[in-house]
Amino acid sequence: MIDPKDLLDFIKERRSIRDFQPKQIPEKEIEMVLEAGRWAPSASNRQPWEFIVIKNRDILKRIARVTGYGWFIGEASFAVAIVGKPYISHNWYVVDTSLVSMNMMLMAWSLGIGTCWIGSMNKEKAKEILGLGHNDYLLTVLPFGYIRGAIPDPTDRNPLNRIVKEI
Ligand SMILES: Cc1cc2nc3c(=O)[nH]c(=O)nc-3n(C[C@H](O)[C@H](O)[C@H](O)COP(=O)(O)O)c2cc1C
Repeated sequence: MIDPKDLLDFIKERRSIRDFQPKQIPEKEIEMVLEAGRWAPSASNRQPWEFIVIKNRDILKRIARVTGYGWFIGEASFAVAIVGKPYISHNWYVVDTSLVSMNMMLMAWSLGIGTCWIGSMNKEKAKEILGLGHNDYLLTVLPFGYIRGAIPDPTDRNPLNRIVKEI
């Protein structure tokens, strides 16, 4: 078991990273990121997802071009498209794949690998580039790369006394 204080500090320290070193990431570390995603919880344990690992520079750059603010995916060492399968769990595929993404982001952070959720993306065009079917749901494409430069300053969070109610 992990020390609770260490876990909380770790969660707080994670930052979205948009600047990557042009350095290859060993397969073992890529596998750990995927494995962390695989172990996400899902409704009725249906695991309504598939992961597409993208290392091809041309594909990364093509995806970068269909983002609004996600150009940095073109510079990533690899990316993972997290694909939801509505026909496996039509009520929960968005929630379940979102949990996958968080697991992957935290695993990456523990390895010194940066990532950032990219929501600003033309998903239909990205799906076409990835060869996804009409029934596939593209949650996001997470770019991964070793962090270049300084870790960005901590981002703000609303204080607990503003967001917590006790009844
Ligand atoms: C659903 C979602 C969509 C996001 N979309 C983008 C995006 O398109 N481009 C980007 O640079 N960051 C994006 N982000 C990253 C957020 O800006 C970032 O998580 C937030 O500012 C807090 O910063 P932190 O992750 O460093 O704590 C997104 C995050 C989430 C959760």
